[in-house]
Amino acid sequence: MDSNDYDLATPITSTTGLRQGLASYGDPHFSLFLRKVFIKALGYSEDALSRPIVGIINTFSGFNPCHANVPQLIEAAKRGVQLNGGLAIEFPTISVAESFSSPTSMFLRNLMSMDTEEMIRAQPLDACIMIGGCDKTAPAQLMGGISANKPILPLITGPMLPGSHRGQRLGACTDCRNNWAAFRAGEIDVEEISAINEELAPTIGTCGVMGTASTMACVTAALGMMPLRGASAPAVSSARLRIAEETGANAVTLAKSQRKPQEILTKESFWNAITVLQAIGGSTNAVVHLLAIANRHPDLQGVITLDTFEEIGRKTPLLIDLKPSGNNYMDDFHNAGGMMALLQVLRPLLHLSAVTITGQSLGEVLDAGQSKTLSFSQNIIRPLSDPLFPASSLAVLRGNLAPDGAVLKASASKYKHLLAHSGPAVVFENSADLARRIDDPDLQVTKDSVLILKNIGPVGNPGMPEAGMIPIPKKLGEAGIKDMLRLSDGRMSGTAGGTIILHISPEAALPESPFGVVETGDLVVCDIESRKLHLEVSDEVLQSRIGKRKQLLAGEVQIRKQRRGYRGLYERSVNQAQEGADFDFLTAGGATV
Ligand code: FES
Ligand code: MG
Repeated sequence: MDSNDYDLATPITSTTGLRQGLASYGDPHFSLFLRKVFIKALGYSEDALSRPIVGIINTFSGFNPCHANVPQLIEAAKRGVQLNGGLAIEFPTISVAESFSSPTSMFLRNLMSMDTEEMIRAQPLDACIMIGGCDKTAPAQLMGGISANKPILPLITGPMLPGSHRGQRLGACTDCRNNWAAFRAGEIDVEEISAINEELAPTIGTCGVMGTASTMACVTAALGMMPLRGASAPAVSSARLRIAEETGANAVTLAKSQRKPQEILTKESFWNAITVLQAIGGSTNAVVHLLAIANRHPDLQGVITLDTFEEIGRKTPLLIDLKPSGNNYMDDFHNAGGMMALLQVLRPLLHLSAVTITGQSLGEVLDAGQSKTLSFSQNIIRPLSDPLFPASSLAVLRGNLAPDGAVLKASASKYKHLLAHSGPAVVFENSADLARRIDDPDLQVTKDSVLILKNIGPVGNPGMPEAGMIPIPKKLGEAGIKDMLRLSDGRMSGTAGGTIILHISPEAALPESPFGVVETGDLVVCDIESRKLHLEVSDEVLQSRIGKRKQLLAGEVQIRKQRRGYRGLYERSVNQAQEGADFDFLTAGGATV
């Protein structure tokens, strides 16, 4: 053997397996020699090591019920890889569960994306299956995977099944919120709310409504990155395991073709994903995530913007009758044909030439699946002629209060008259101020007031918490009020509903933010028709308030520059909601070299 072609015994092709991303230990042949020494400690044979190597990201955690089936999915995915001639090797990254990530899971999304990117890049793998599901995990993995730009295959953990209380179905977490609001309003007692608590999450898996996790699953499928059934099969179903096996098989093909995400994903794939987002009445969080994902792609940075969501929204009706915009659960969507049935209906609005992970175009995927969706009921997935909401379930608003944009899930508004409303602001400076005063019997507030919560933006809290669903003040709740116009620079859970304007940019924590200087009593005008969010305060007054506030905030800005650790990195580097709340240095255009 020529020492310049050192391969131990079995030749391996020059682009696959252990040759991927050789570390520098002097000459490359010695690097390969060393790599083989250490992987052999795990007992792999030369035959095994000569195969395409498929990494599988293990995001199991005892703190993450949404990922509790990851061990079974790994086993099934490995089976798919190995039955097709590959070698599957699992490895961990961090696991981010919505309920156990303080201060917020969003704070950790960018960290998870960095972990994912660097581990995919670092290790000798030819393709990588990324198992995720809970809200921030699929976006974090797509962001990291696109930046690493090796062949990637998202595999979703899947939604939980609904529970039952006194004959009524229940599901996390729209029903968590509805029932808690009913408890606050005195409509149900402490025994009943405790019984409901037992049933809201009756199985493992992601939240069972069209919250952020389900939305991102549907959107990932619409991007062409995974089999369509992969968006909705329940976490506990055998179908979910078969999807994992199929993903393993796809991974071997992808490892051989070396089709990379920056090649698969185009403007057209994002168009399809945003069309689906609008048609499913998806989570507002998906707007932030999709912007962050697109901005990792060198060809799409700045091409997919808030205006893209608005443009597509105006043409796209809401077709899915799922909570929080409708009445049903992910389980029902799956049984009604899921994404395959939905995309057949949406066909005229889609870019069918967009390529998918298997190399087929979306049109070819839909042609092949057409006959399987003919007999499904149209109650859950409505036809274009009978939508649940005519268009723009997610709308983008602008005005002097949000010069860089704000997002409203119009379809989840409970009192539609609030979509064209003006009223006096009742301002809460931050979450602590809100908690202290919202239920104060002396709070000056009526049903026509506009509730405003500042300082829950990307920098402000930090991590842009899902605190945007400001509770209805107790005294109004007890009087039967279920919805009010509410504004913040934060996010809300994808499972929440109400007339709630979110992601106001620039956020209040930034010294130049007009939203930061709204005062109690100012008149706020929201008009969905003209997409306007306006403060009836003159430019001069607004500018003079901003000038004064800049001086007040100077100290805080200085502290942020000096803060240690990940929080310091986060506060110094996070961009605004309309850019995806990503770190500026991670975006495709963020680095100068
Ligand atoms: Fe994980 Fe809802 S808590 S998806
Ligand atoms: Mg959520």
